[in-house]
Amino acid sequence: MSKRQPKWLDNAVFYEIYPQSFNDTNADGIGDLQGIIEKLDYIKELGCNAIWINPCFDSPFNDAGYDVRDYKKVAPRYGTNEDLKRVFDEAHKRDMHVLLDLVPGHTSVEHPWFKESMKPEKNEYTDRFVWTDHVFMDTKGMNTLRAISDRDGCAVLNFFSSQPALNYGFYKQEEPWQQGMDDPGPEATRLAIQDVMRFWLKMGCDGFRVDMAAWCVKNDDENRTGNIYFWNKVGKFLDEEFPDAAMVSEWGNPDQSLQGGFHMDFQLMGQGTNYEDLFRCDEPYFSSRGKGNFKAYAERYNKSVAATEGKGLICIPSGNHDIDRLARRLKGNELKMAFAFLLSMPGAPFIYYGDEIGMNYVEGLISKEGGYQRTGSRTPMQWDDGLNDGFSTADPKDLYIKMDDAPDRPNVKAQMADPGSLWNEVRRLIKIRKENVALRSKAKVEFLETGYPLVLKRSCKEQAITVIINPTNEEKTVDVHGTIIYACGSAKLENGKCHVGAGTAVFIEN
Ligand code: NOJ
Ligand code: CA
Repeated sequence: MSKRQPKWLDNAVFYEIYPQSFNDTNADGIGDLQGIIEKLDYIKELGCNAIWINPCFDSPFNDAGYDVRDYKKVAPRYGTNEDLKRVFDEAHKRDMHVLLDLVPGHTSVEHPWFKESMKPEKNEYTDRFVWTDHVFMDTKGMNTLRAISDRDGCAVLNFFSSQPALNYGFYKQEEPWQQGMDDPGPEATRLAIQDVMRFWLKMGCDGFRVDMAAWCVKNDDENRTGNIYFWNKVGKFLDEEFPDAAMVSEWGNPDQSLQGGFHMDFQLMGQGTNYEDLFRCDEPYFSSRGKGNFKAYAERYNKSVAATEGKGLICIPSGNHDIDRLARRLKGNELKMAFAFLLSMPGAPFIYYGDEIGMNYVEGLISKEGGYQRTGSRTPMQWDDGLNDGFSTADPKDLYIKMDDAPDRPNVKAQMADPGSLWNEVRRLIKIRKENVALRSKAKVEFLETGYPLVLKRSCKEQAITVIINPTNEEKTVDVHGTIIYACGSAKLENGKCHVGAGTAVFIEN
C-alpha cells in the first residue's frame, strides 16, 4: 500500500463523463470541453465532487479514444490543451477534482512511437512495443499484427487490432523476444508514460483512471506479481513528484491493485465478481420481482475487504461506457433502490453520466468508433425537451450518436423540477452520504441480511447507520433501533421494529 492517500477521497462521489456525448457547445454534433465546463455547476448541484473524463486525447478513434495518437494533445474535436486546463481550474474553483483516463497499455497504430518502431532499422522506439523476432514464428498464443512493415517481426496487440501493446516486459520470460521487466526497453516505456502523467498533473489534473492496469506486464502469474511490481515503480515516481495524485485502476481485483499502490479499484466488473447479480442479469437483486441473489455478491465483497485489510477503496459504479445502462434491466422505482445501495456502500461511488436520470440503453444502434454493443450506453445526454434534448444545436443527422427517441425518455430539466424523480432521489442520497461520516468512503460495512430486504450496517468510531433496502412488492419488517435519517418510500419505526414498505429504502442512525 502506498503512503499516498489523498484526503478528498474520503468523501468523494465521482461522475463519469464520456466527452463525446455530454454537451456540445459549438454545434458540430459532438460534446466538447467547453461543454463540460458549462455543466460543472450541474454536476456540483447533483452533489458529485469529482469527475473522470474518458480519453480526450488526439486519436483516430478506432476505440473511442482508447487508441491514443498523441498523449499530450487534446483531440481537436474536444478543444485545446488550454481548454483542458480550464476544466481543471474551473473544477478546482468549485472544490471539485478531475481524473483523466490514462491508457498505458497500448497506443494507436498511428502513434509516432509505433510508426518508428515499425521501421526495420534499429532506433529509439524499436523496443517501445512488444515485437516477436520474426514474422514467420509462433506468437505463443498472443494476438499480433503480422507483416505490417519491413520490420521482421509481429507486433503484439493489447486489445483491438489497432492497439499495439507497449512494452513493459514479461514477468515470465519464455522466448528470446520477451524482455524482462527491468530491461532498458521496458524501463524507457515506463519513463515515457510517467512523463505523460507528469505533463497533465503539472497542468492541474488530480489523478488518473488507469485503463487495463492489470495487463501492462505480460505473462504475469495469477497474483499479478509483475504488474504489482511495475505499478510500485510508478508509485515511487508519484510519491516523489505528485504525492496527492489519486489513482483508480481498471483491474477488478482490489487485493492486487491496492498492493500496486492504487487507492481505488473497480472490483465489481467482469468475471466472477457477482456485480451483475445486482443490476444486470435476468433477475437482478434490485428488481421488484424479488427473485435476485445478493448473497454471492456479499461473500465476494467480504473476501475482498478481508484481503485488502480494509485499506483502499472498492468502488462500485452505477455503470460505465463499456456495460449496459442500469436502466436496461431496472425501471422506475427499482433504479432508486439500486442508487440507495450504490450511494450507501463504502468506496467512492461512480455515477455514469445520464444514470442519474435513468437514461436508457438504446437498442439496435449502429456501432460508433469501436463501440459495438457498447454504443447503446453512449448516447447523447438528455438535458431538456428542446432540439436534440439540449445536447447540441447541430442538425440531428450530424450527431455523434443519434439521440434516444423513446417517447418517454427522461431529461434533466423535467426531473429537476419533479421532487419525486430519480434525479432528486440521487441528489438526496448523495447529500445524506456526505453529511454522515458512517456513510462515506471508509466506514466499514457488514451485511446483516442478504435476502429481502437487504440490511447492511455502516459504522465507524463516530457513528453507526443501518441501511434497509426493500426492492420487492411486499412490506417487510426488520428489528432495529434508532432514528430514521433518510427514507425513500414508506417506512415506520416503532418499538424496535421498522416496517419497510414495498420499494422502500430507509437509513436509520443507531
Ligand atoms: C477498457 C476501456 O474501458 C474500454 O472502453 C476500451 O475499449 C479498452 N479498455 C481498451 O482500451
Ligand atoms: Ca462540439
